[in-house]
Amino acid sequence: MAEATGAATAEPHETGDLTDGVRRRDFINIAALSAAGVGGAAVLYPLISQMAPSADVLAESTTEVDVSAIQPGQAIKAVFRKQPLFVRRLTPAEMEAADAVPLSALRDPQTLAERTKDGHHDLLVTMGVCTHLGCVPLGAAEGENKGEFGGYFCPCHGSQFDTAARIRKGPAPTNLEVPEYVFSPDGSTITVG
Ligand code: FES
Repeated sequence: MAEATGAATAEPHETGDLTDGVRRRDFINIAALSAAGVGGAAVLYPLISQMAPSADVLAESTTEVDVSAIQPGQAIKAVFRKQPLFVRRLTPAEMEAADAVPLSALRDPQTLAERTKDGHHDLLVTMGVCTHLGCVPLGAAEGENKGEFGGYFCPCHGSQFDTAARIRKGPAPTNLEVPEYVFSPDGSTITVG
């Protein structure tokens, strides 16, 4: 009886050791990996967070642009929150062309007046980022192709924007975005953001 009891107890004990051993090794490996992962994350996170401005800082950053020297028919390119910004002084003919388009003909209906500030309807401020897939349209620099509608032309897939930077043809779903901005009291500068 004693032998039988011994044999009966020995077998499960051996199996138990093996199982425990595997489990212990797995646990040690898993614990080591976890520690490495946590350590890696702990070291990387401060590095990454030091390299990139926080979302708060980026969201609050503003750009000042002196618009006093921009002549009718001219545009300048600036940078706002790391993206191109177009500031364009429209000629009377460009304003008339924009006002002559019925809203029903527009994919993203907006008047020039709605896209500019009161008293400054000749100054068009938009992001220089195509609303299709984010290319930088042509038309802000002298001699660049302004497209069929005299505004901006995106060479990536052929979107055409009019003199109010509204989408008129091609795949872009919406007008070039007008960011938040204010004029200085004397009208010489805008603060974007
Ligand atoms: S990104 Fe401008 S047309 Fe596609």
